[in-house]
Amino acid sequence: MDFKTLSFPDAPLIKVAPPGPKSKEYLDYQSLHEGAAVSYPKGMPMAIRRAKGATVEDVDGNLYIDFFGGAGVMNVGHSNPEVIEAASEQLVDLTHSLDIPNPARKTLVEVLVSLLPESLNKLFFGGPTGSDAVEVAMKLAKYNTRRIPMIAFEGAYHGMSAGALSLSSGLGFKEDFLPLVPEVHFVPYAYCYRCALGKKPDTCDLDCAKYLEHILGNPHSGVGKPAAVIVEAIQGEGGSIVPPDEFLPEIREICSRHDVLMIVDEVQAGLCRTGKMFAFEHTGVIPDIVTLSKGLGGAGFPISCIAYKAKLDTWPQGKHIGTFRGNVIAYAAGRAALNFMVKNNLTDHTLSLGNSMLSWLREIEKESNIVGESRGKGLMLGAELVLDKDSKEPAPELANRVRTFCHRHGLMIEIGGHYSNVARFLPPLVLTEELALKGIEIYEDAIKDTEKSM
Ligand SMILES: Cc1ncc(COP(=O)(O)O)c(C=O)c1O
Repeated sequence: MDFKTLSFPDAPLIKVAPPGPKSKEYLDYQSLHEGAAVSYPKGMPMAIRRAKGATVEDVDGNLYIDFFGGAGVMNVGHSNPEVIEAASEQLVDLTHSLDIPNPARKTLVEVLVSLLPESLNKLFFGGPTGSDAVEVAMKLAKYNTRRIPMIAFEGAYHGMSAGALSLSSGLGFKEDFLPLVPEVHFVPYAYCYRCALGKKPDTCDLDCAKYLEHILGNPHSGVGKPAAVIVEAIQGEGGSIVPPDEFLPEIREICSRHDVLMIVDEVQAGLCRTGKMFAFEHTGVIPDIVTLSKGLGGAGFPISCIAYKAKLDTWPQGKHIGTFRGNVIAYAAGRAALNFMVKNNLTDHTLSLGNSMLSWLREIEKESNIVGESRGKGLMLGAELVLDKDSKEPAPELANRVRTFCHRHGLMIEIGGHYSNVARFLPPLVLTEELALKGIEIYEDAIKDTEKSM
């Protein structure tokens, strides 16, 4: 399929400086009646009218290239016609069923089971968001091991509900609400640009992973034997951090050696985002439990689920319940999205376009004084902004400036990172090379403009 047909042909097109007058009306109304914690429109002030493929139209008629993808949700593109058709057909027949089986649910399970490794053949639908999948994964691990401690990584983001927030490292999100779930311990991720152990890739023997071994093996580490280690195969909100190839296999081995379960959180990196159906597939590792959400609803319909090994299916009926365990429209939309991914070889497109984009980003980095590192895999990319390339002092205010410039010139991007200084690119995977190039040009202008302002 020619992905070009999926997006608005004229994007980017700025008719009136955003936020235009109509957007302003929506934003004013929002701040009048919605809580101050509303977040995204503060960074990208706009109101959205509609969206298609890898493009978005605001209520003032401005067209944007979308490198944000609804925070990595819109993998097969906004309003993907095949997904919308499947969801529309489903709307007429059935829209809610708790966890009572129905044809839409069965077909989604069939497709998912056919795509997952054979040993991850038990699925469980949680509440509607990625955080819910993380909650279920943690509960299942605790139930099976009868242990309370959990290990997560510095820079991890697993969600906002109490358990998921406990497993997330960002203090800005959690410090006002502590204590949350007890006994969560954090170890360094393989963030080689800022190695926690002061190593350089050529002097390091996966020392961060070995630190986990040390904690698990040392009776005086102060950390009780955990139920599970939860890890992102590529850190998303942490700043598109790709660990060395051997990192995940090493964590897997350590977990197995110490009889600790391994949860891989694929909420963001899963479903083709990194150029494989699941990001852990880059490494050959098979986790014990995998979390999925975001792209699983096909067109942004909320749904989450975990996949796990059958031997962990020890819990009895009703141990984890809820009104929205799965979502019938999302099953239909998700099944259509997964079919679209497979039929159109979306993994290959994502990998090759991602490689091109990464090489363009690295060219820009070479010419720039403020881009410390450009990185990522597939279409989960990022550029870490610093005040100085030698000191690597993080520059979150420059990242904000870059985002604002991009937005004003018709490109939506996200900001993340351990220090909130990473410009993140998570476009719908149906992005074309032409749109990718136009978007990267806007980003390049943003970097140059930001440098001039310093
Ligand atoms: C890796 C990961 N896990 C969990 C979540 C939480 O998902 P949600 O925001 O749908 O609760 C996110 C959200 O960005 C995520 O990136």
